[in-house]
Amino acid sequence: MPEEETHLLLVEDEALLREATAERLAEHGYRVVQVESGEAAVEQLTNFAFDVLLTDLRLPGIDGTEVLAAALERYPEIVCIVVTGFGTVKDAVEAIKRGAAEFITKPFQFDQLLHVLAAALEQRRLRSENAYLRSQLEERYRFEGLVGRSALMRELFELLETVAASASTVLVSGETGTGKELAARAIHHNSPRRAHRFVALNCSAVPETLLETELFGHVRGAFTGAVATRQGKLETAHQGTLFLDEVGTMSAGLQAKLLRVLQERELERLGDTRTIKIDVRIIAATNTDLSQLVSEGRFREDLFYRLNVIPIFLPPLRERREDIPLLVQHFVHRLTREHVPPRKITVTQEAMRRMMAYTWPGNIRQLENAVERALALGRDRTQIDLHDLPPELQNAPAGAQPVTVVLPEGGLDLPAHIADTERQLIRQALAATEGNKQQAARLLGLKRTTLVEKARRLL
Ligand SMILES: Nc1ncnc2c1ncn2[C@@H]1O[C@H](COP(=O)(O)OP(=O)(O)OP(=O)(O)O)[C@@H](O)[C@H]1O
Ligand SMILES: [Mg+2]
Repeated sequence: MPEEETHLLLVEDEALLREATAERLAEHGYRVVQVESGEAAVEQLTNFAFDVLLTDLRLPGIDGTEVLAAALERYPEIVCIVVTGFGTVKDAVEAIKRGAAEFITKPFQFDQLLHVLAAALEQRRLRSENAYLRSQLEERYRFEGLVGRSALMRELFELLETVAASASTVLVSGETGTGKELAARAIHHNSPRRAHRFVALNCSAVPETLLETELFGHVRGAFTGAVATRQGKLETAHQGTLFLDEVGTMSAGLQAKLLRVLQERELERLGDTRTIKIDVRIIAATNTDLSQLVSEGRFREDLFYRLNVIPIFLPPLRERREDIPLLVQHFVHRLTREHVPPRKITVTQEAMRRMMAYTWPGNIRQLENAVERALALGRDRTQIDLHDLPPELQNAPAGAQPVTVVLPEGGLDLPAHIADTERQLIRQALAATEGNKQQAARLLGLKRTTLVEKARRLL
């Protein structure tokens, strides 16, 4: 047995065989999750990075070959072993071609299975490259520079594509590092304006007085130091797109001026009386809740509605953990493609599990940095392992075990069941942190306010 825990997903539709195998594997130290269908297997693989997939080839519904493909597509490092019935060696050979490490024919002795497992795990350690591994960086999981395979992201890609075709103003919101600027660029590059400029301006990075000239430009002598006439970003972006980042930080005065530009599609440079017509698409971004600022009277309501014609929300990474393997692969590829000689970098399933369990307050930017750091540390290593991850990940809880819940024959009351599970976990988190809500929230991957609200409702 390997030193670390080995997480194994067992897919078998014959209940007796499945349960007996699972029980014996558990006796030998494997952490086993058992499912009876290909559909359930894919669901498990979506959320958890198993070390081993042990699947029957013949399954009702999605068959073993598809489960195998789904596993390898997500996790190039997963070890797949297929179980075939008597007389179907051809299928097994096909499975090997598609990336399975081993096959075993039914009926088998349990010892035989143990042996095959140990050999396959050992082989993974030695394996340099599997020519049959499919890259999951396929077209269908990307839109411009954005990658993602979760339903949330695929819906977003569709929305971005539709939005790109229109000329409407867009408000992109989302936590820091979720890809707001990338999304804005993707819209521009897919829009009829793509031949013109994409101009970005971060409203919080420029002092108030400068921001105005940045936006509107000025004529010579407009103020002390205005030695020459200068175009503002609104003009520079004519016929193109202006990306107004952190728009929530804009002063009241500038908000009023921007509103006028949006309404009239014209502006004057500072110190000038001449009116200039402009045709600019505005994409604004914010990582604070702009409607909240409106209700606090810190952001103009009329401007908010002008900007928020099409709202686009970028979900935090912790709400789409299934994107993590794809993103990791994307960053590894991007950061190493210029290496000479080329190196194939693999990420251990243990490291992947930790990354999928972490809450990522800095979202994708933080993940990108973590990958970059791991690559920089292991200059000539070909693997990213748990100890290559940044300290905040190493110290984070190892994450949820995959849960398999069995629907009782008589059915159940789902809301009550979920509430009960939530209640138990919240109690445990509060107990473990001696009632510290901030820490308890972190343990549960929740915002503190969400935890407080849930605790009030459930406890
Ligand atoms: N879906 C994605 N696929 C690939 N890379 C992504 C994705 N989303 C974000 N990134 C990368 O993550 C980093 C942060 O993205 P971006 O700058 O667009 O975030 P942001 O939401 O504008 O953050 P902030 O609010 O801090 O400005 C960038 O390097 C970007 O390339
Ligand atoms: Mg940004």
